[in-house]
Amino acid sequence: MPVILAIESSCDETSAAVIRHGQVRSNVVANQTVHVQYGGVVPELASRAHQQHIVPVVSQALAQAQTAKTELDAIAFTRGPGLLGSLLVGGSFAKALALGLAKPLIEVHHMHAHVLAHFIEEPQPQFPFICLTVSGGHTQLVLVRAPLDMTIIGQTQDDAVGEAFDKAAKILGLPYPGGPLIDQHAQTGNPEAFSFPEVQTPGLNFSFSGIKTAFLYFVQDKTRQNPDFVTEHLSDICASMQHTLVKILLGKLRRAARELKINEVAIAGGVSANRGLRQALRDLANREGWRVHVPAFQYCTDNAAMIAMAAHYKYLAGEFVGQDISPEPRLAF
Ligand code: KG4
Ligand code: ZN
Repeated sequence: MPVILAIESSCDETSAAVIRHGQVRSNVVANQTVHVQYGGVVPELASRAHQQHIVPVVSQALAQAQTAKTELDAIAFTRGPGLLGSLLVGGSFAKALALGLAKPLIEVHHMHAHVLAHFIEEPQPQFPFICLTVSGGHTQLVLVRAPLDMTIIGQTQDDAVGEAFDKAAKILGLPYPGGPLIDQHAQTGNPEAFSFPEVQTPGLNFSFSGIKTAFLYFVQDKTRQNPDFVTEHLSDICASMQHTLVKILLGKLRRAARELKINEVAIAGGVSANRGLRQALRDLANREGWRVHVPAFQYCTDNAAMIAMAAHYKYLAGEFVGQDISPEPRLAF
């Protein structure tokens, strides 16, 4: 069983993890605070911050796992999808380390890894299962037949649900990334206080651009009537918007599970940290008779432990890549 160092740098978190015999031994994540003042991730600044973080983050991951570089059997990295400048830092570092140590190299798809985060801890899902992967850049329903055999059965036709959370927060004047803040304010709000029109989409696909626009017009309209509307009703607005987004997500998840007759269901990705989504999923699972899987918070948002888990399976399958590999911002699923 292999010892692998994995590196994640697809967006604005620099992370490194060590996995030994399928057990994650360390998972170090450096967040980038530089983007807050710009209200979103600035690619050039993300790339620069990755360059500053990568050496200390990798050193810390190895130290925490009490692993010497020479003990490693392979080096893994996120090849895509993500920001090119960010991917280049982790990818180049991994390639250089693999070359220097004469170890094999493993490329990992960031969205596969979000799904495989479910195998870091017990209880693990049984195959086949459906995973709803919800992040800042993606919203996907994935049919997972085996660790390295998964297919997208539904996805967003426009914006990701994480973007809808972040955009709603921005409209409300909350700092970036606003998803966790919507979650926090929603805790004390009434989810039925306001309603927003949902766009009907065919089959198992999603659409979030319409609701984003509807939310903007709603806030503008109410603020015209009462300039203090947002401050007076913040928790109700957050709870109502979150409720609507969660309803759209779970509606499609339920449809997928019924159509495929699968009752093993999971959620993954940054938005799966959302407490409203977690609670509503548990309630729905009780009604539908599903076994449901939700990763620990630290494995929902971007982290290298999930990259390490994916790399573990690829190592066992003998899936290695050469030094000619390059990052792929739009890597196909
Ligand atoms: O998976 P992730 O860390 O990065 C991407 O690969 O995109 O997901 C980040 C997204 C952001 O949109 C962030 O606002 C959202 O996940 N997010 C949340 C929560 N925690 C993170 N959205 C709603 N509620 C949360 N608690
Ligand atoms: Zn992600």
